[in-house]
Amino acid sequence: MRTDQPQTIYLSEYQVPAYLVDQIDLRFELFEDGARVHSTLTMRRNPESGAPGQRLELDGDSLILESVALDGQTLIPDAYEEADGKLVIADVPGQFELSVVTWIEPQNNTRLEGLYKSSGMFCTQCEAEGFRCITYYPDRPDVMARFRTRIEADRQSYPVLLSNGNPVEQGELENGRHFVTWEDPFPKPAYLFALVAGDLTEKRDSFTTCSGREIDLRMYVEPRNAEKCDFAMDALKRSMRWDEEVYGREYDLDIFMIVAVDDFNMGAMENKGLNIFNSSCVLASQDTATDATFQRIEAIVAHEYFHNWSGNRVTCRDWFQLSLKEGFTVFRDAQFSADVGSPTVKRIEDATLLRTAQFAEDAGPMAHPVRPASYMEIANFYTLTIYEKGEEVVRMIHNLLGPELFRKGSDLYFERHDGQAVTTDDFVKAMEDASGRDLSQFRLWYEQAGTPVLTVEDEHDAEQGIYRLIIRQTVPDTPGQTNKKPQHIPFAVGLLDEHGQVLPLALTADEHNAPTERVLEITGAEQVFEFHGIEEPPVPSLLRDFSAPVRVRYPYTREQLLFLMSHDTDGFNRWDAGQKLAIDVIESLVGEDDGKEIDPRLVGAYRTLLNDTSLDQALVAKMLQLPSENYLVELADEADVPSIHHARERVLQHLAVSLREELLACYQRHQQAGDYQLTPEAIAGRSLRNTALGWLLHIGDVEALALARSQFEQADNMTDRLGALRALVNSGFDKERTEALDAFYERFQNDPQVVEMWFSVQAASFKMGQLPHIRHLLEHDAFDWKNPNKVRSVVGAFAGQNLPAFHNPDGSGYGFLADVVRRLDDSNPQIAARLVTPLTRWKKFAPAYGRQMRTALESIRDKKGLSKDVYEVVYKSLA
Ligand code: PHE
Ligand code: ZN
Repeated sequence: MRTDQPQTIYLSEYQVPAYLVDQIDLRFELFEDGARVHSTLTMRRNPESGAPGQRLELDGDSLILESVALDGQTLIPDAYEEADGKLVIADVPGQFELSVVTWIEPQNNTRLEGLYKSSGMFCTQCEAEGFRCITYYPDRPDVMARFRTRIEADRQSYPVLLSNGNPVEQGELENGRHFVTWEDPFPKPAYLFALVAGDLTEKRDSFTTCSGREIDLRMYVEPRNAEKCDFAMDALKRSMRWDEEVYGREYDLDIFMIVAVDDFNMGAMENKGLNIFNSSCVLASQDTATDATFQRIEAIVAHEYFHNWSGNRVTCRDWFQLSLKEGFTVFRDAQFSADVGSPTVKRIEDATLLRTAQFAEDAGPMAHPVRPASYMEIANFYTLTIYEKGEEVVRMIHNLLGPELFRKGSDLYFERHDGQAVTTDDFVKAMEDASGRDLSQFRLWYEQAGTPVLTVEDEHDAEQGIYRLIIRQTVPDTPGQTNKKPQHIPFAVGLLDEHGQVLPLALTADEHNAPTERVLEITGAEQVFEFHGIEEPPVPSLLRDFSAPVRVRYPYTREQLLFLMSHDTDGFNRWDAGQKLAIDVIESLVGEDDGKEIDPRLVGAYRTLLNDTSLDQALVAKMLQLPSENYLVELADEADVPSIHHARERVLQHLAVSLREELLACYQRHQQAGDYQLTPEAIAGRSLRNTALGWLLHIGDVEALALARSQFEQADNMTDRLGALRALVNSGFDKERTEALDAFYERFQNDPQVVEMWFSVQAASFKMGQLPHIRHLLEHDAFDWKNPNKVRSVVGAFAGQNLPAFHNPDGSGYGFLADVVRRLDDSNPQIAARLVTPLTRWKKFAPAYGRQMRTALESIRDKKGLSKDVYEVVYKSLA
C-alpha cells in the first residue's frame, strides 16, 4: 500500500508561470549505458506573475543531476535544492541563463516516458510530463520556448538523428561518433519536443502547399518495414490538402517527418514536425493490415497532422484544457474520414464507441467533465471523455452554428491565438464572437460530467392537426457533482407519415415550406415543441445523426422500429432502429429459459437486409452487426454477463439458422472481383462476407467451413484472411481452428503487428480465450511484457472484449487482471492504470460479480509502492 497520498491538482489553483523560457539549447550525448543531457535555458521573470520573490522551481523525474550553472557560474550544492521532483534555486535574477547537466538511462526506461529505447533506437515521448524525465525544466504547456537540439551518437548504430524543426548543422566527431543539430523556429511547450536516433530506412516524398511551398515529407522506419509506408504517406498528403481546403491551414515548416516505433504507450504523438507513431498505427500493407487498420491509420495520420494547428500553433494553457486540442482535433479527423469514406458508417462507428465506452466512463467512478476540475495523474485523463465526448461538444457547436459560421469561428480562433497557450473557454469565445451566438449555457458541456438523459413523450391532437413532443432533461449525478443544470442540446428530429414520407415541420400554423428536419434546441428541464399540419400520428425520428451525446428514452414499439429500419431517411437512425430492435429482443430473453420464442419479426427484418441488394451495402454491413455484449452490459442495470451472453448467442444462432440460404447467397454475391480496393463499397462487401461467414461457422455449417478454409488460404488481403481465421477460431471446428492458427503464425511470425492480431483474435474469443489459454499465450515466445501492444493484444482483449470469460463466476478473470496490473505497475504505470478500467465498473454488475471485482481492486490497492497512476484509478473506484 502507498503510505503517502498523491497530491490532487486543481484547475482553480492555476497560476501563470513565474519564469519564462525564451530559448533552450540542448545537447544530447547518447551512449549504450546512458545519455548525458546538457541544457541551457535563456530565462526571464514573467511580467504577468504576481508570485513574490526570486525563487525558481523546475520539474524533474528520475534524473541524476551532474551540474547546475547560473550565468556561467557553477552553483555549489548549497545554492540549490533537489527534492520531490523539483530543482529549486532560491535566488535568481530577473534575466539569466541556466545550464543544467543531467544523466539518464534510456536503456532502462520501461515506463516509455521521456527518452527511452525501442528495438535498438532512441526515441522520446514527452506528452504530458515526459520532458521532466530528460532534464530539469518548467514542464508545463504554457511555457513556450524555441528549441535548438544537438544530438551526438555513434554513427554506425545511429546514422539517423532527428529532432523538431530543420536540420542546421551536422558533422563528424571523434571515436566514430557524429552529430546533427536541429532548430525549431516555432516556440513550443516541452511536451512537443521529440528526438529519434537509430538505424532507420528513409522514405521520401513531397507536398506542394496551396501557396506553392514545397514540403519535404519523410518516413523513418526499421528496414524490415520499408514496404509498409506507402499508405500512411498518401494519407498524410490527403490530410495536408484537406486541411488547406476545409480549414485554410497550410503547413508551416519545410520538412515533416513520421517515425514508427514498436514500443509506445499510446497511438501516436504530434511532436512539432516529427510525429512519432506506434508501429501498429502507421505501418500497413494489403497482406498485413485489415480494412479497419487502414482506416485507423488514415485517421491517426490525419489526427496527428491536424494537431500542427489545433494543438501546436495554438496549444493548451494547462492540462485541464486537454480537450481543447484533442476534442477539436478528433472532430477534424472525423470530418476528414467522413469526407474520404462513408459519412454514415463513420458516424455509426463513432457513436457506437461513444455510447458503449464513453457513456460507461461517464457513469462510472472516473467520470469527469470534458474540462476536468482536478486530477492526480494527468496521464489518466487521456480518456474517451476528453477525446470522444470532447469531439461531440465541438460537433454540437458545428451543428448549432452551421458550417460557414463554424469556419469563421475556427479562423478567428487560429488567428487570435496563434502562438499562444489557451483554454477551452477561449475556443468557445472565438466561436461566439465569429457567429454572434450566445454559448453561455452551452459551456456547461465542458463543466458538467455525466451523460444527459432526454425523456421524450409525444401526443397527437387529431382535431387541431398538432403533434407535440414533450422533452424532459436530466443530468445524472457524478462523483463530486450533484444537482446539475440543464444543458444546451441540439436535438435533430424528423417525422415520418405512415407511408414513410418525411413531413414538413411547421412550428406555427402559418409556416409554409417548413423543413423536414429541424435541430430543436433543448435548453430547459422540460420543453414542449408543437408541429402543425400533422393530420395522422407520425413516427418520430429522434436525435438524427446522433446530434448530441445524450441518452434518449422514447417508448418505441417494435412495429415502429421495424418501420424506421426500412423507411427513415436518416441513415444513422435507420441503423439505430435496427440496433434498438435487436436490443429489445435480446433483453427480453435475458434470464429466460431457452424455450422462449424469438420474435420472428427480427428474422424478417434481417432477411430483408440480406435480400434487398438495392440498399446501401455499407449501411447494411453495419446493420447486420448485433449490438455488442459491451453495449448490452452498458444498458443493463445489474449486468449478469453470462445471461446476457447466452441471450445474445441464442439470437445470433437463431438468425444464422433461419437465414442460412440468404447468408450463403450474400457470401457468394460479395466474392471479390478484381484487385483489392479500399473504397467504401469494397470494404462493405468484405464486411458482409465475413459477417456471413462468421455466423455460418458459428452454427457449425460444413459448407461454410469449406468456404472459410479456402478463403483463409487464398485471400489476397488481411481483411479476408483474418476474417476467415476469426470465423474458424469462434467456431466449434477444433481441428481446423488449430490448423489455421498455426499456419497463420507460421506465415506472419516475423511481423509484430500481425502477431498482435493473432493474439487478440484468440484472447477476445469466448470459444478459445478461457483463462488457461490466456496464460498460455503469455508464455508464448512472441509475447513481451515490455511491449504495450502485446499486453493490450492479450490482456486488454481478454478483459475488454471477452466478457463471458473475464466475468467467469468463479472470479478467476478478475484475480488474473489484478495480478497483471500489480506486475505492470512497477515497469509501466500508465499501461497498468489503463488495464484497470474493466474492474472500475464493478458497481455495474450483479452483486455476486461486483463483490469479487471489488476484492480484486483491493488487492491492487494493497500493493507496496503503488504508482500514482494506478493509485488514482483504484482509489476513486473504491470510494
Ligand atoms: N497527443 C496524442 C494524440 O492525441 C496522444 C498521446 C498522449 C500520445 C500522451 C502520447 C502520450 O494524438
Ligand atoms: Zn490528439
